[in-house]
Amino acid sequence: ILRSATIPHPNNWAGAKPPLLRFLDRCHADFAAESGGAVADYIPELGKADPDHFGISLATIDGHVYEVGDTRIPFTIQSMSKPFVFALALDTLGAARVESAIGVEPSGDPFNSIRLNSENHPFNPMVNAGAIACSGLIHEAKGGGAFEYIRQALGRFAGRELDVDEAVYASESATGDRNRAIGYLLRNSDVIKDNVSEVLDVYFRQCSIQVTARDTAVMAATLANRGINPVTGEHVMTPYAISRTLSVMTSSGMYDFAGEWIYRVGIPAKSGVGGGILAALPARLGLGSYSPWLDKHGNSVRGVKVCEALSSHYDLHML
Ligand code: DON
Repeated sequence: ILRSATIPHPNNWAGAKPPLLRFLDRCHADFAAESGGAVADYIPELGKADPDHFGISLATIDGHVYEVGDTRIPFTIQSMSKPFVFALALDTLGAARVESAIGVEPSGDPFNSIRLNSENHPFNPMVNAGAIACSGLIHEAKGGGAFEYIRQALGRFAGRELDVDEAVYASESATGDRNRAIGYLLRNSDVIKDNVSEVLDVYFRQCSIQVTARDTAVMAATLANRGINPVTGEHVMTPYAISRTLSVMTSSGMYDFAGEWIYRVGIPAKSGVGGGILAALPARLGLGSYSPWLDKHGNSVRGVKVCEALSSHYDLHML
């Protein structure tokens, strides 16, 4: 039985802070000074994020959750939804169906690339094409209930009900023609079998689910804990789905920075243009960070720094 304990928010911390929390405090103070990059504004509503927000949360697989800074500020999950929907597709439709539709090779391309592999399938589930294909697979299995099915599954990873940011959803849908173009290409090669606009609606909604840095730390810790949420104790996904999801996060989670990332940081991770990064170190911990400044790859500038510092300070590189 897994313990479910929550370390108090640092503002409520009475006695001496544990060393890990002191380390996270120091990361927060040091990297709050970094303000390079840009807040994503290709989805206009994302451009309204407060660039000063900065939260770091770390959840261990025995259920402790550490938090520093703005860990309870909601932001949209964006591409960090991709690993969870891929895992859900594996569990819902079976590996054979999913693996026949989506590859697992790194593309080396930006996240929104329209380029497909030699079979006209997505390179992997972490780029938009692969994620849209996953939303299509869930739609194939669940029809009009697809989005609700996804929302509930993500909530089990986070250990609480998650809502949609309707303004971001509307903005995302209004400006999503590049993703629609990808959707039609996928239907042309039979990867998507259903109505493309219904599938895209699922994808836009899943990207607009609101999370906090704390939520993403717990979600990452659930990946690290082979599918058992370490805070609630709930078994949310099969070990097979989790192991394959961590595999594609390792090879493709950080887009055209994935090689550099796994070389330098050595922890499977996924970023989102909302400013989140989640990193899952198998059998150890999940990290969630939130800071909207993005680098040219679409990865959070401060989040990358936090992961690099954590990995090097505690020698967490998994290889
Ligand atoms: O498809 C899009 O454009 C977004 N809704 C999600 C992209 C995203 O988060 C890429 N991540 N860095």
